Amino acid sequence: MIIAFTGKGGTGKTLLASMTVLELIDSNVGDLLVIDADPDANMPDALGVDVETTLGDVRERFKREVESGELPPGFDKQAYMEYLVASAIEETDDFDLLVMGRPEGRGCYCAVNQWLRKVMSDLLPAYDAVVMDCEAGLEHVSRGIIEGVDHVVAVVDHSLKALKTAARIRDLLDELEVDVGSLHVVANRVTDEEFEVLSEKARELDLDIVGRVRPDPEVVRIDLEGLPVTELPPDSRARSDLREVLRRIGITG
Ligand SMILES: Nc1ncnc2c1ncn2[C@@H]1O[C@H](COP(=O)(O)OP(=O)(O)OP(=O)(O)O)[C@@H](O)[C@H]1O
Ligand SMILES: [Mg+2]
Repeated sequence: MIIAFTGKGGTGKTLLASMTVLELIDSNVGDLLVIDADPDANMPDALGVDVETTLGDVRERFKREVESGELPPGFDKQAYMEYLVASAIEETDDFDLLVMGRPEGRGCYCAVNQWLRKVMSDLLPAYDAVVMDCEAGLEHVSRGIIEGVDHVVAVVDHSLKALKTAARIRDLLDELEVDVGSLHVVANRVTDEEFEVLSEKARELDLDIVGRVRPDPEVVRIDLEGLPVTELPPDSRARSDLREVLRRIGITG
């Protein structure tokens, strides 16, 4: 099962993705891989994991060494690439974490994105569940990064702009005929009154919002202190609301 969090910038993708990781761990999902596909990576901090090497780093190294003919003895290109990718995976007791990072200097992200696609097809079958935190906007949808994802979660806040981004994600998935399971729109950081109005607006865009996570002072507290989501009590408002949403979507039982 692969779940990807997308949506407009700042809507809560990283918060919901990291709390989903906690829910999956609590439901004994099995082998879990977390992919931070945002070049401005936040999942390591959100989950309280130190990451030294990113996919962007190992890709630069690979390129440098292949170009200068310096492959280590005993490695062909494919084996060396697999070795480097494995070295970028940070293992914890509960999950593995792979951070995509960004290319060095002014380089474009295409090459790292291309690697990410390749890595995903090689690596993903080894895991029972994968949670991806995507870059804001449409980039990962248009580049096919979320090809093969079972659940695409488009996170919206109380703004019409965020709803429009979700609608564009839906349209792009349709237009590019990307092979994904289902798209779920989830409202975050909205009160129940705001949720009512937002649901109306969503219907006008032919979107159905599956549920909401309310504003949570506990989240503000951990933000202020720079603490990971593991410091959120399981019965905190944000975690309880998300648990309900994940059940409704069918991600947890
Ligand atoms: N339900 C909530 N209650 C309180 N604070 C929240 C809630 N949801 C998100 N926040 C806070 O809002 C900020 C933005 O959330 P987050 O970083 O998860 O958004 P994002 O969509 O990943 O942003 P970006 O597009 O920059 O990656 C964070 O400081 C987060 O902790
Ligand atoms: Mg984020």
